[in-house]
Amino acid sequence: MNKEMAADIDLQEILQFASELALKAGDRALELRDAGDLGQDYKESVELVTSADLDVSRLIERAIQEKYPEHLFLTEESEGAEAARPDLETPTWIIDPIDGTVGYVRGHFQFCISIAFCMRGKIQVGVVNCPALRELFTATLGQGACLNGQRIQVSSTAILKNSLVATGFPHGWEGIDRLAKRLGEVRKQCRDVRRSGSAAFDLCWVACGRIDAYYEEIVKAWDLAAGKLIAIEAGAQYGYFDEDRRSELLEIRGYASVVSNPKVYDEIFSILTNTVESL
Ligand code: IPD
Ligand code: CA
Ligand code: CA
Repeated sequence: MNKEMAADIDLQEILQFASELALKAGDRALELRDAGDLGQDYKESVELVTSADLDVSRLIERAIQEKYPEHLFLTEESEGAEAARPDLETPTWIIDPIDGTVGYVRGHFQFCISIAFCMRGKIQVGVVNCPALRELFTATLGQGACLNGQRIQVSSTAILKNSLVATGFPHGWEGIDRLAKRLGEVRKQCRDVRRSGSAAFDLCWVACGRIDAYYEEIVKAWDLAAGKLIAIEAGAQYGYFDEDRRSELLEIRGYASVVSNPKVYDEIFSILTNTVESL
């Protein structure tokens, strides 16, 4: 498919399709968990991957391939995905079948199915399903964000001292002292911190105002793409607190992301950039 053909794509139809698919995938993730016996393995010896991650990934990919055979994929679980270095001009789906696997296997509710649709260089549609809470977050570029069909907005907390800030950590230990030091600086200047275990979940909670800010150093496009659009469409400010060390496409850059309600953005941004300089 070329750029011209992208002009025929109906984003409303994509949103509907992605929402139904994320709901179906979420039901499957819950069913597999309830049935027990999740096969577990480790990627690069530290990153947990279960039979449910692979099963849900296949379910999503097959459904997209059937409906949109010419579209590209970037998914966490498919080896050698066609769009490993996507330009996002061609219609491309960015998928994390289960974001928050470590908590998912332990029966936590903080895990999500994250599906983003991109073309013309932009994330156009984002859908994040948190099946354990029956919460479906959705957004279409320029049209706002919703939770179960109702419009959502970021919080109105005016200062960082009153803010709840979420963050996350990579699966391995590399750099953990640096991350802990930065977290300490943030904690000194906010009300409290949270670590849900799912980046997509954190972005959606910024979007609906349950937390005020989220930052993380090492995340990937599939963790962020859908939630980034949802947060921005709900009024969040989004940026990066360190230089791009992985040469990622800006639209889906994961490295050193920070997102918050616009009122506290400058405060958190300045703490994060100052700690980067001093570490
Ligand atoms: C992880 C989650 C977590 C974040 C990690 C991610 P996964 O994704 O989003 O919150 O801190 O950086 O790798 O492995 O559960 O899909
Ligand atoms: Ca993830
Ligand atoms: Ca995942």
